[in-house]
Amino acid sequence: MSRQTGTPWWQKAVFYHIYPQSFLDTNGDGIGDLEGIRRKLSYLKELGVDAIWLSPVYMSPLKDEGYDVAGYTTIHPRYGTMEDFRKLLSEAHALGLRLIMDLVLNHTSDMHPWFTEARSSADHPRHDWYLWHAGRNGKKPNNWLTNFGRSAWKKEEATGKYYYHSFFPEQPDLNWRNPQVKKAMFNIVRHWLGMGVDGFRLDVANMLFKHADYPDNPVWALVSDRNVYNRNQPETYEVLRDLRSLVDHYPGRITIGEVYVSPPGNSALAASFLGNGEDMLHLAFDFTLLFTRWSAFAFRNVIRRYYKALPAGGWPCFVLSNHDLGRAVNHYLFPLSKEKKARLLATLLLTLRGTPFIYYGDEIGMENRHIPRSRIRDRYGRMLYPLYKGRDKARTPMQWEPSRHAGFSPATPWLPVHPNYRSCNVATQRQQADSVWNHYHSLLRLRRTLPALQTGEIEMKRPGNGYLMYTRRDATSRYDILLNFTPFRRKVTEYRKEENRVILHSTHPSRTGQPVQYPFYLLPYEGVIIGTGFIES
Ligand code: GLC
Repeated sequence: MSRQTGTPWWQKAVFYHIYPQSFLDTNGDGIGDLEGIRRKLSYLKELGVDAIWLSPVYMSPLKDEGYDVAGYTTIHPRYGTMEDFRKLLSEAHALGLRLIMDLVLNHTSDMHPWFTEARSSADHPRHDWYLWHAGRNGKKPNNWLTNFGRSAWKKEEATGKYYYHSFFPEQPDLNWRNPQVKKAMFNIVRHWLGMGVDGFRLDVANMLFKHADYPDNPVWALVSDRNVYNRNQPETYEVLRDLRSLVDHYPGRITIGEVYVSPPGNSALAASFLGNGEDMLHLAFDFTLLFTRWSAFAFRNVIRRYYKALPAGGWPCFVLSNHDLGRAVNHYLFPLSKEKKARLLATLLLTLRGTPFIYYGDEIGMENRHIPRSRIRDRYGRMLYPLYKGRDKARTPMQWEPSRHAGFSPATPWLPVHPNYRSCNVATQRQQADSVWNHYHSLLRLRRTLPALQTGEIEMKRPGNGYLMYTRRDATSRYDILLNFTPFRRKVTEYRKEENRVILHSTHPSRTGQPVQYPFYLLPYEGVIIGTGFIES
C-alpha cells in the first residue's frame, strides 16, 4: 500500500468504528463476523471513509463483549478464523482502506492463561504479572472502585490475597511495573504490526498504572468519580512513550488512546497523552462533545478548550458516538428530530480541524434502542437495572435494508434491531437524495476534494446570533462553516461585504450549489459550508 509523504495519512483520514458483532452476520448465528465486514468493504469505500477501527475480535469468554481478552493473537471463532482476518486485512488494503485493532493493555480476561497461572500460587513466576494485595487489617486494601462504583478488589480463596480489577472481576488488571508484562504486550504489538495492521486503538490507555503504595482515594474523589491514585500515574506516560518508539519502527502505523476521563470535560488530561505531539499517542479521544448542550455557545466553548489544551504539534480528533456512550443523536436533550440532529452533527464532525471518527450506523442516523430487560446483554445493565440499563442501546445491529432483521442476519440477532429500520436503513436512504446517508456521503466527498477541510487551520468566530461559525483555510482557499442550532432563521452578521460566495454544501440539499444572497440567512437547523473563493496573497 502506498505511503504518503508530507501530512501523515491519519490526519487527513476519516475513521469508521465497527462493532464487529453488530455489523453483518454471514454464517447465520445472529452475530456479526469478519466475513461480514469483508463483504462490506466496498460499501465503506463508497461511503468515503479511509480507515476502520475494529472493536476486539480476539479469543475471549465475552464477559465484557471481548474487552476481556483470553488470547491476544487468536481470533474468536464466532468472528471467523485468522485466515478470515488476513483476507479482510489484505482486501481492505487493496481498496486503500487502513485497519486498526483494539488493544486492551490494562487487563486480561481471568481466563487468560497468564491469569490462570498467576492465581495458581503466590510463588508462581507469573503471579506478579497481576496486582495482588494481602489486604489491610483483614479488610480490602483500599477504597478504590470499579468504574461502576463497586470495590475493585476481589479476594482469591486459593492465595488469600486480593487482586485488582478496574472493570469486572473477570478482568484482572496487569502489573505494568513488571518488565515481563511490558515485554509480552510489546511482542503482541509487534505480532500485529508485522502482519500489517495499521495501528491500535488503545483501550483505557491512561489506566495502566496505579499508585505503587495503594493509598485510599480521597472521599471527594470517590463521590465525584475523579480517581486520583488508580489512573493517570506518571509511569503511564513512560510506557506510552516506549510504545510510540516501537510503533514508529513500522512506518505509517498509529496509536489512538481511549483516555478514560470520568467525568468528561478534562480536555487537558486527554491531550497530555499526546506528549509533545510526536513522542506519545498519535491521537487521544476527547469525549467532551458528547456531553455538550445543544447550543452554539456550548459547542464553541468545548471545542476551543480542547484546541487550547493540545500540545504544539498535537493533532485533534473528534468522536460523537461509540459502543459505551451511546448514539450521537441521543446525547442532546433538545426537542428536534433525530434526523435533523444527525445532519447538523455530521457537518460539525466532518468540518472541524481534527480526525473524525464515525461510529457504524451514524451515517444513517441510527438511534439508541430501548432494550427489554430480558434481552439485555451488557452485564452492567443486568447488574444495575433499572438504575442503569447498560450499553447495549448503541450496539444494536447495523440497519442495511428494510427487510427482516434489517438485512443484518437471517437469524434472530444477538441484540434486537431498532424498530425504525424500515426507513432508517442504508438501502432506503441511498435512494433518497435528502437522506442522512446522502448527507454523509456528499460531505465525505467534499472533504476529500478540499484539502483545507482536512488539514487547514481553523478559526472559531464568536457565536453572535445562535449559530456557530468557523473558518478553515490553507494557503489558497478559505471555507466558512456555519451551523444554526436554533429553530429560527438567522441572519449571518459576519457577511457585511457582498462577496462572491457559494453554498458548497448544506444540510438542506436544495440550497447546495446556490450562490449566497445578501443579506444571508441560515435556515432553522441549517449547517452550511461556504466557499469564499481564492485568497489574494
Ligand atoms: C473501554 C471499552 C469498554 C470496556 C472497557 C474495559 O472503556 O470501550 O467497552 O468495557 O474499556 O475494557
